Amino acid sequence: MMKVAIMGYGTIGSGVAEILEKNAEQIEQAAGQKVELKYVLDLREFPGSPIEDKLIHDFKIIEEDPDVNIVVETMGGLNPSYPFAKASLLAGKHVVTSNKALVAAYGTELLAIARERQVNFFFEASAGGGIPIIRPLYRCLRGEVIQEITGILNGTTNYILTKMDKNGESFESALKEAQALGYAERNPEADVEGHDTCRKIAILTAMATGHEVNYEDIYTEGITKISDVDFKYADRMGASVKLFGSSRISGEQVHAWVAPVMIGRDHPLYMVSDVFNGILVKGNMLGTTMYYGSGAGRLPTASAVVADIIEASLHKHSNVPMGWNDERLSIADMSTSSHRFFVRIAGTPEREKALAQKVFGPSETVVLDGMDEFALLTERMTEKAFEEKAEAFESAGGHILQRIRAELS
Ligand code: HSE
Repeated sequence: MMKVAIMGYGTIGSGVAEILEKNAEQIEQAAGQKVELKYVLDLREFPGSPIEDKLIHDFKIIEEDPDVNIVVETMGGLNPSYPFAKASLLAGKHVVTSNKALVAAYGTELLAIARERQVNFFFEASAGGGIPIIRPLYRCLRGEVIQEITGILNGTTNYILTKMDKNGESFESALKEAQALGYAERNPEADVEGHDTCRKIAILTAMATGHEVNYEDIYTEGITKISDVDFKYADRMGASVKLFGSSRISGEQVHAWVAPVMIGRDHPLYMVSDVFNGILVKGNMLGTTMYYGSGAGRLPTASAVVADIIEASLHKHSNVPMGWNDERLSIADMSTSSHRFFVRIAGTPEREKALAQKVFGPSETVVLDGMDEFALLTERMTEKAFEEKAEAFESAGGHILQRIRAELS
């Protein structure tokens, strides 16, 4: 018998309690034993709810109860999730979390404690929500040298970009819908400024390389500057704009970044719409694989947490080798990363195209009727080269309205 305590009865925590109840038989079979919810820790009261009799307000009860084998952390944030997760591991309990902020900030230390105490620190739900991606990385792809991970890793921003693209909705109204559907972070700035994607790609990069990744080393740009006009051009070009978190690993050199990218219909991540996430992983022997599914939301995320509860039950007395060590991965400066660039330029092509082509080199030009602007699609160049050209263009009197990295063939 495994006894579980859930810390945080919010969107995900209540989903975990529901799945443990509804799928009890299936879970017992998979875990080889009964898995029972013993406590739910929350500051709030939940009168009339199914967990009313399990509700506690004091973490010490969990920490000091030798019957509790697995502690589920679904509180979010770092305080008190970090001290509680750490104390649980030190007390010899497995910890399962959906909290990417916790894993990105303290994963190295929590994984080390778990190894030392012969328990497990699992976090399948922390990246890609309900999509199995952490476990494939430490099991199925274990024999591969991972060369690239590129993902649409945030449901809220993908939902917003899809609504802007397909329905011409405004950024604000699409964000409100995503919040109402329970996809967004408590502070949606974490979604729209790319911070949530940054933590997820940091976790996936650390999983792929076996080394700690400092998420602060990852260049991060959100979607707040993407406008309806960008989508008009994208539409004309048979393209769309998606928020990517990406790691490109080539020997010692690792580029990791978060940014909106213009992609065409032939890109494997083009069809990943609405709240769905998609993650592309390239291995040196396997080639490209794709993982697709619900990247946010109550039951999909809770489902990944429950899978970790089962994994912990199957390894009740041993630590599963996974995760990363404390040797920090060096992330290459963004200025050395290469892309094509979609650039919107003020003025008519008649007036500005010659200068633009001279500065940016041979580029495709896109013109929309009735606009006092046009766009260029440059050849591939480093960020540094692009910034230098952009500066030269502006110094010569040109005016850039927008630039978006592009992966268009
Ligand atoms: N706010 C996150 C998202 C939740 O929209 O993807 C899942 O991590």
